[in-house]
Amino acid sequence: MRTFAIAASIAALALGLAGPASAQSPIIIKFSHVVATETPKGKAAEKFKELAEKYTAGKVKVEVYPNSTLYKDKEELEALQLGSVQMLAPSNSKFGPLGIREFEVFDLPYILPDLKTLRKVTEGPLGARLLKLLDAKGITGLAYWDNGFKQMSANKKLVTPADYQGVKFRIQSSRVLQAQFKALSSLPQVMAFSEVYQALQTGVVDGQENTWSNIYTQKMHEVQKYITETNHGYIGYVVIVNKKFWDDLPADIRDQLTKAMKEATDYGNTQSQKENDDALAEIKKSGKSEIVKLTAEQSEAMRKAMEPVYKDAAGRIGQPLIDEFLKEAKSTTN
Ligand code: LMR
Repeated sequence: MRTFAIAASIAALALGLAGPASAQSPIIIKFSHVVATETPKGKAAEKFKELAEKYTAGKVKVEVYPNSTLYKDKEELEALQLGSVQMLAPSNSKFGPLGIREFEVFDLPYILPDLKTLRKVTEGPLGARLLKLLDAKGITGLAYWDNGFKQMSANKKLVTPADYQGVKFRIQSSRVLQAQFKALSSLPQVMAFSEVYQALQTGVVDGQENTWSNIYTQKMHEVQKYITETNHGYIGYVVIVNKKFWDDLPADIRDQLTKAMKEATDYGNTQSQKENDDALAEIKKSGKSEIVKLTAEQSEAMRKAMEPVYKDAAGRIGQPLIDEFLKEAKSTTN
């Protein structure tokens, strides 16, 4: 009889029938992400773990899996919906395949002059409304985390828009980013972040766009001859949890986790700029890539060349959303 009970509970565990994850002790939060620990997202995730475990006095254990060690880009979103992992922080550019296109507004070239402007949008009504869209997918949006501004890297020196013609670029799974490279007559190719280094090394693609911290920690500068300082677009994240897991948590635990998330967000978003500045300094020191600077006229030519992306994006995410974004970015109220 006893043997049967043990066998039955082992079978139940194997089938994932041991009750909701939130009823286990300690409650385990698996937090999967695709970047290195020494990045804005990696550090914010570690800070969340530290604070969540402290505020819940060990009732919650956060297991952070960095660098795609648990799941790659596309898989991690599926795993979250299935409940195999509880927390993620995918970039805004990765929600399209889930059926939520609106976050791609953050991908529009030159839409954000600086991080202060970004904060007005993410902390305003539009930021809250976008998070709400996730509910229908069984996902709860908790916070916006920064990385920073993107640079263009390639084995070819990229200065004028004409230099981009025919260059194969790895992109994240965003149609706005696809339109951006099409506007430059480049050849965009969607690829998981974990595969970029090798694809650059073997010549599957010629270039990519990313932040200094991602370029440095993935060693992309070692396989790219040039990095052009364009600051043309932004990478940031939406921290998300499985909705059922979150809703099933005891209220006091959820409150403590909310507090930990708020503090981890403040911490992460105040040091993201420094992470990127430090990574740029390290790349310069390595001497492996030439850093190409653009004059004001050259930057303006890039902006102009990418302007058609706005029209293309309006067809996908709607002009009202773009207008709302631009209005909040200009507002002086928050
Ligand atoms: C990328 O895929 O290039 C980035 O979104 C990776 C990340 O999470 O910063």
